Amino acid sequence: MSLYEELGGEAAVNAAVDIFYRRVLSDAYVIRFFEGVDMEKQAAKQKAFLTMVFGGPNSYTGLDMREGHKHMVEKMGLNDSHFEHILAHLRSTLAELGVPAEKIQEVINIADSVRADVLDR
Ligand code: HEM
Repeated sequence: MSLYEELGGEAAVNAAVDIFYRRVLSDAYVIRFFEGVDMEKQAAKQKAFLTMVFGGPNSYTGLDMREGHKHMVEKMGLNDSHFEHILAHLRSTLAELGVPAEKIQEVINIADSVRADVLDR
């Protein structure tokens, strides 16, 4: 079974979207990156984000991640400190959903594997 299936597949992603979204958007340290991004696009983004870090079928590539975040690196100073905040929200979202610690770590490892692409280096 893939990690994505173990976590509960699309239903698990849907459950996580609201919690993750709420946590990210109530974080004063990263909110500025999300201002002016339209809600519909944002919901799809959250879903794509979570499917990807769960190891699911939505196969975003490094190139997509690089292109998708480059403007934030160049114009808004997106860096490791912001990346760490997003990882922390991911951790606490999964903990709130009762995901076991070792599965949370697997998800975090996948998320961390795109760090260099997201931060364009
Ligand atoms: C594990 C790391 C990350 C992953 C896997 C990820 C994933 C994604 C995905 C799949 C998209 C949608 C791209 C598209 O199709 O348009 C996206 C867009 C976006 N991401 Fe990330 N992301 C990560 C880190 C971050 C961080 C650290 C921030 C800021 C603190 C961030 C802010 C955004 C914003 C604001 C958008 C929307 C950009 C726009 O529509 O203009 N992401 N991300």
